[in-house]
Amino acid sequence: MASLTVRQLDEKLKRRLRLRAAKNGRSVEDEVRTILRSAAADVESFAGTAELAHGAEAPIGPVRKTAAMRVVLIIGGGIAAYKSLDLIRRLQDRGAHVRCVLTRAAQHFVTPLAAAALAGERAYTDLFDPQSEFDVGHIRLARDADVIVVAPATADLIAKMANGHADDLATAILLATDRPILVAPAMNPRMWAAKAAQRNLAQLKADGVRLVGPNEGEMAERGEAGTGRMAEPLEIAAAAVAMLRAAGALAGRRVLITSGPTSEPLDPVRVLANRSSGKQGHAIAAAAAAAGADVVLVSGPVNLPDPPGVTVVHIETAQQMLVAVEKALPVDVAIFAAAVADWRPLHVSGSKIKKHGRPPTIALTENPDILSTVAHKKSGRPRLVVGFAAETDNVVGNAEAKLKKKGCDWILANDVSPATGIMGGDRNTVHLVTAAGVESWPPQSKADVARTLIERVTAAVTEFKR
Ligand code: C5P
Repeated sequence: MASLTVRQLDEKLKRRLRLRAAKNGRSVEDEVRTILRSAAADVESFAGTAELAHGAEAPIGPVRKTAAMRVVLIIGGGIAAYKSLDLIRRLQDRGAHVRCVLTRAAQHFVTPLAAAALAGERAYTDLFDPQSEFDVGHIRLARDADVIVVAPATADLIAKMANGHADDLATAILLATDRPILVAPAMNPRMWAAKAAQRNLAQLKADGVRLVGPNEGEMAERGEAGTGRMAEPLEIAAAAVAMLRAAGALAGRRVLITSGPTSEPLDPVRVLANRSSGKQGHAIAAAAAAAGADVVLVSGPVNLPDPPGVTVVHIETAQQMLVAVEKALPVDVAIFAAAVADWRPLHVSGSKIKKHGRPPTIALTENPDILSTVAHKKSGRPRLVVGFAAETDNVVGNAEAKLKKKGCDWILANDVSPATGIMGGDRNTVHLVTAAGVESWPPQSKADVARTLIERVTAAVTEFKR
């Protein structure tokens, strides 16, 4: 590893480094190490390189791992700012990463510390703070976001936005951004009704800014009521998600996903089940929803919360899963990630099977193959059908055979031998098997596998004619 000499850097950079190091109580060398470590982590999270399993087959470029929905929340200076702290949580509940920017006026109502503690990242306040500019900078804050939410948007902040001011960090971000902006106005009803305020709002709307609220009701000031209350955090979070989904790459597409195990009853207390956790299937459902798809998730019994923004149908047996899947059709894309039991007990006893004498012999019968049933449909077949192959040996070979037998378009194959820790674990190593060849993706979290798969699905879907 090459050693670095700070002396060789230009004077301006050295000055900024010294300033930053002093502020953080570190030596300049330690500061450089910290910066390099964080830059390396950034590169890692954005540039997963994929290895090829089969020599020259199907080369794939670097996979950009799409991060969670990124929200820059600009908190303006109004009493409703206290609700913005709750908004941070409500956005996080929907899988968002939130970065907070507080105007000077906002800091009279809430502190950057409170916003940072909730966001899990420092809050940004100052356009001319050398450390912020060195770390992120207002241009990166403006661009490294999927949506910018302004809540509360005061009359003054709205006026500045409408007129293109950029005299503080919040307004500079709002002017520099090319991302969608959602504004949650909050002001006294008389200010809201004022001609100047309405003129500014009309300008924002004409500029493509989206509004949520304001609502009618009591104001913070005693005896004041009318239109001007900031929309509730849940409404604002829902509006931000809806805005992103409408702009998502899979907007208007219907995606069906199966996930988890099935549980096949033997008697009222005993079942035949398997160790599938549902983590991979649920992560795919979440990633598809984040990309704007209309998602139906048919899930066996799992210990996972329903992913936000997804219609979840809970089932237990393979037969119930097939019924739910048929009901969810037609869809554009179907992804079968469930570990469906191949067999079920032929007879289900209505009462608990008793222990007398010899252990019972359990006769099994085959379950319907849901993936194969859907993939072989003559009419109403989804345009893209994706299966999974959990294998303990000859992973790719078995997956290639399965692709043909099941009639699906893609198979994601993974090695589930106990040593891999994939069953129930958070990481996965998969091979994407298609008619064009085999791609082996690097080991990654199940969430990243899901996002990579959804990126591939998105690319395939854009080729479909509506
Ligand atoms: O045959 P095998 O179980 O290995 O195939 C795995 C793939 O087939 C997975 O995509 C799984 O969801 C699907 N499958 C199914 N119905 C079954 C068995 C498997 O949909 N009865």
